[in-house]
Amino acid sequence: MTADRSLAVVVLAAGKGTRMKGDLPKVLHPVLGRTVLGWVLAAAEPLGAERIVVVTGHGADQVEASLPGSVRTARQQHQRGSGDAVAAALPALEGFTGDVLVVNGDGALFTTETMRAVVDEHQSRGSVATALAIRGDVALPYGRVIRGEDDRIEAIVEAVDATEQQLAVDELNAGVYCFDADALRAGVPRLTDDNAKGELYITDLVGIAAGDGGRTLGVVAGGAEELLGINTRVDLAEVEDVLRRRVLTRHMLAGVTISMPDTVLIEPTVEIEPDAVILPQTMLRGRTRIATGALVGPGAGLQDTIVEAGAHVERSVARDARIGAGATVGPFAYLRPGADLRSDSKAGAFVEIKNSIVGSGAKVPHLSYIGDAQIGERTNIGAGNITANYRPELGRGKQRTTIGADVRTGSDCVLVAPVTIGDGAWTGAGSIVTEDVPAGALALARARQTNIEGYADRVMHGTQA
Ligand code: UD1
Ligand code: CA
Repeated sequence: MTADRSLAVVVLAAGKGTRMKGDLPKVLHPVLGRTVLGWVLAAAEPLGAERIVVVTGHGADQVEASLPGSVRTARQQHQRGSGDAVAAALPALEGFTGDVLVVNGDGALFTTETMRAVVDEHQSRGSVATALAIRGDVALPYGRVIRGEDDRIEAIVEAVDATEQQLAVDELNAGVYCFDADALRAGVPRLTDDNAKGELYITDLVGIAAGDGGRTLGVVAGGAEELLGINTRVDLAEVEDVLRRRVLTRHMLAGVTISMPDTVLIEPTVEIEPDAVILPQTMLRGRTRIATGALVGPGAGLQDTIVEAGAHVERSVARDARIGAGATVGPFAYLRPGADLRSDSKAGAFVEIKNSIVGSGAKVPHLSYIGDAQIGERTNIGAGNITANYRPELGRGKQRTTIGADVRTGSDCVLVAPVTIGDGAWTGAGSIVTEDVPAGALALARARQTNIEGYADRVMHGTQA
């Protein structure tokens, strides 16, 4: 058979997902940074299909809103079974000739390789209907792939409809099929709901093709875990664990050290360079990027954050932040959107930074809030400093604090924005800085100390001084 037959992909995603026991459509449950359906589509995408059709039904509006524009959708009005879902896809396949890969939308673990193996076998052996069969435990409630004499599939029988003898078959139907488009169109009108569930089964389309004398193949491919469709939230957790492992394995084989991987979660969109080290209890999400030599963890939670070469992030949370080369963060720092730590800078313990630049070599070592500020190179912020950026009397929005290079602020200063501290200036401990400080000056902005002699004695013993 020619490998240049056209390919279409149909993803069945209209099912109710009753066993999930909740409102969210089953295929929209998030699992490791994507929806269940998102994983299926990500696996199908590299096949380069001429068109991709997603069949929606239960929660259709919500499901369709989650899809990229490149995907076509078809609505199944009533959820009368997976075979009926295929029927609903036919209008979207009008004029298409070639092969149609049909995939269960709850099969988040199907890999591109496995889908490709099904298509390749189907096409190279001139099959009319092909199903992915995976060997598994006969106690599992999956359809049984029943083979005839010449090894072709005779039928796929649902576990609830199977005889004792059929139940003993350990080739299980995984939910990935390939059909000749014309055979699909010919088979759909002949489906009946004469079965235990009273539904139209996609699986019967394979039996119909076999009955018509076409070649029907069962392709054994993929790993045992690919059988796992998501029907309950127990399945969801199990699937997440498999996906998580796959992502970690990919990074480790590419040169990333991951310590205690059972405690680490990395979403598929995260990029990590070789020779980065990820320590236990770390979660990396979204568009996070980690450069070589960075040490992330233990206990780091980073979302959409850039960590440059050789930086160190320990027990800290960051979102939409940048941590420059050689910078150190934590323990217990909180970097919020727009925190931009330049090279060799530091955000230490119990420090919160938002929408601020911390210049090269500058340090915010302890117990501070820095928001809407610019801190110059090599500046040191004393313990417990706060930028008071919220001044409703000055109008909407936050006020900025500008701190020059080589500045040293004393402990426990409040910098009341808008305010500018010049290069090389100092502020005294406990100062409430409300006016600009010239370069090189010392700002003292606190009440002068008064000592009242003998005061304590007077209070305690009533003595007259
Ligand atoms: C299905 C297979 C079973 C296989 C198993 C693998 C059928 C009849 N059986 O069983 O042989 O072992 O998958 O996981 O298909 N759907 C619709 N519209 C509907 C009903 C279902 O779009 O009216 C979609 C679902 O969203 C799902 C897929 O079809 O993605 C399969 O339906 P599901 O109810 O999950 O079938 P299973 O009982 O898991
Ligand atoms: Ca299922």
